[in-house]
Amino acid sequence: MKHLSALSGRDSFKELLEDLLTDLSWSVGWRTHSHSPGAFTPHTPLRKAGDTMNIVVADDALIERHIHDFGRLLSEQTIVPPWNLRWKPGNIDDPESATGFLHMLHVNGGRFVVALNGETIAGVGVTICLSCEELLDDLHVRELGAQVGDEYLAAVVVDPGQRKHGVFTQLAELRVKLARERAAASRNGHMPIAWVRTHPEVQPVIRVYSRMGFEFCGEYSPPLGGVCAPRVVMKMPLDAVTVS
Ligand SMILES: CC(C)(COP(=O)(O)OP(=O)(O)OC[C@H]1O[C@@H](n2cnc3c(N)ncnc32)[C@H](O)[C@@H]1OP(=O)(O)O)[C@@H](O)C(=O)NCCC(=O)NCCS
Repeated sequence: MKHLSALSGRDSFKELLEDLLTDLSWSVGWRTHSHSPGAFTPHTPLRKAGDTMNIVVADDALIERHIHDFGRLLSEQTIVPPWNLRWKPGNIDDPESATGFLHMLHVNGGRFVVALNGETIAGVGVTICLSCEELLDDLHVRELGAQVGDEYLAAVVVDPGQRKHGVFTQLAELRVKLARERAAASRNGHMPIAWVRTHPEVQPVIRVYSRMGFEFCGEYSPPLGGVCAPRVVMKMPLDAVTVS
């Protein structure tokens, strides 16, 4: 929301009006779908009056069409404090880049959830079943006690122009729902654990996960995104009841 004192001229008042209308639309516009939407424009922070927010589970076509947009968003929003990662948007062949990391999750069965505000990508997140020993090492989760069959809620990022409207919360809830469904279908005697980690300074994220039933279980500094930086680790058994 822009402050009135920062605005001047007819266009600025038009923008203010659009923002006000948009804020109204956010309070009534949430919908969740499990199909791929049509074409949309990535990473454009302007919210338009009348847009509605859709949280979708992306199909392969959507992921492949927009993985570079997701990688760019992830890189741009994590090279800044408190993350200070050192990875470029890059491409799918570069495992040291944000796009390469997302591509690795995709080819290993990661489920992508995408927030769309009209034609704008508002955010993206991934959840992945830790289906083999190599993934435990590649994602640096073995040292947490994660086992094959557990779930890791990986990268999540929200466009700066779309924040503080519950986008992250919706993406987190949908990822846990997907994880729980997958776990129920493949439990085979093992009680899968969902793992998340975040930077200790990103308290809003820690609060949301705590509310959902995740419990703090330690801190460590794995080599991720080109740096070794502290991470808070939280976990939740996947038969736990989600608190909304
Ligand atoms: C952290 C991030 C994902 C939050 O996204 P978001 O869509 O704004 O989050 P939500 O709107 O769902 O808000 C979640 C909580 O954080 C609060 N919040 C969000 N942004 C905030 C901010 N800048 N300052 C203070 N609180 C904030 C909300 O009020 C809400 O708190 P509440 O549930 O106690 O009321 C987003 O800022 C982001 O992408 N940051 C960069 C990448 C990152 O840190 N990813 C997390 C990786 S684990």
